Amino acid sequence: MALFVLRGHAARSSSGRRFAFANIRHEFYQTQRNRLFVVANKPYTSFSGTEQFKIRSITTEKEFKSIVITALVNEGWGPGLKDAECFMACDPTAGFVGELNGKPIACTTMAKYGDSFAVGGCCIVNRKYRGRGYGKEIFDAAVASAKPSRSIGIITGLSLMEEIHKLYGFHSQFYGAFFVFNIQTALAGFSELSKTSPVKIKRIDEVNLEALLMYDTAVFGFERHAFLKKWLRMTGSHARVAIDSEGSIVGYTVARPMFVQKGYKIGPLFADSEPVAEKLLKAVFQELLRQQDTAPVAIDAPTEKATKLCERLQGKRSFELV
Ligand SMILES: CC(C)(COP(=O)(O)OP(=O)(O)OC[C@H]1O[C@@H](n2cnc3c(N)ncnc32)[C@H](O)[C@@H]1OP(=O)(O)O)[C@@H](O)C(=O)NCCC(=O)NCCS
Repeated sequence: MALFVLRGHAARSSSGRRFAFANIRHEFYQTQRNRLFVVANKPYTSFSGTEQFKIRSITTEKEFKSIVITALVNEGWGPGLKDAECFMACDPTAGFVGELNGKPIACTTMAKYGDSFAVGGCCIVNRKYRGRGYGKEIFDAAVASAKPSRSIGIITGLSLMEEIHKLYGFHSQFYGAFFVFNIQTALAGFSELSKTSPVKIKRIDEVNLEALLMYDTAVFGFERHAFLKKWLRMTGSHARVAIDSEGSIVGYTVARPMFVQKGYKIGPLFADSEPVAEKLLKAVFQELLRQQDTAPVAIDAPTEKATKLCERLQGKRSFELV
């Protein structure tokens, strides 16, 4: 079973080590991509009257924070404390800003993983400037940056964007929801399975990092070592790894602190089985409780299994995801 948050866009099928990705429907994609690729080959600038809208790459962590993280906070999306740093480590060309007469009014991201996969997100236009074509323009530029060889995955709110993305040639792979947990309530909901599972839960400094990176690549489907080296060790985070009786890694998870409000976001949660997923989550919740940190914990649950687990732990379903 796999859950992912923000940057995890692969999910494991129920039949062993086979994974499904959010691929774009090919024939549609081809038509769209030819059009979009034209966008990529000219400067991202458009004029209307006295307005000049220019799209450029975000080049520094500081800029990523002041533009993308600020937009996420204003939109109420609760980014993590160190997300700017991790994004830049993942793909230093992931961030885009749209400037209207020199003033940033739009942003988006497209993180590239090798030559065949990219993950888009954070597409936000300042409220005052919505409905004037800027959102589409910056999104097109980001898609074009992924080059024709890459499939693109995106997590978005169901009611909001599913139909729009379909027009672009995306097709829906997983339906899930965003959940928020109260730690004490969640701890009461873990099943007997999590108690009887022989798997041992370790801290990140107790396991072989290379083996963990390999496990992540096997589940996620693409190598993302530079990103993970930051993600796994960011200040204030709690990462836990599940080891089976033969010493193999069979799951891991990370809870990272939020940027503004108190609380944590969990992601990824990768696990070879449901009891392992439970055990990992339980270990993180217990650690937070031990530190007397009872702030809410949030998780994106993108699959049916993940959603069921979150419901059992009495997570509050906040909004639907696709
Ligand atoms: C979604 C959002 C970025 C659109 O920006 P905008 O500047 O108002 O949109 P535009 O004026 O460019 O819209 C032109 C068209 O492109 C579509 N479009 C814009 N941004 C898009 C995106 N990121 N993906 C797909 N389609 C998009 C619009 O839905 C619209 O379609 P329509 O003409 O059929 O209604 C903006 O409303 C916003 O910031 N919303 C809050 C954040 C959010 O929900 N982001 C999307 C998450 S993926």
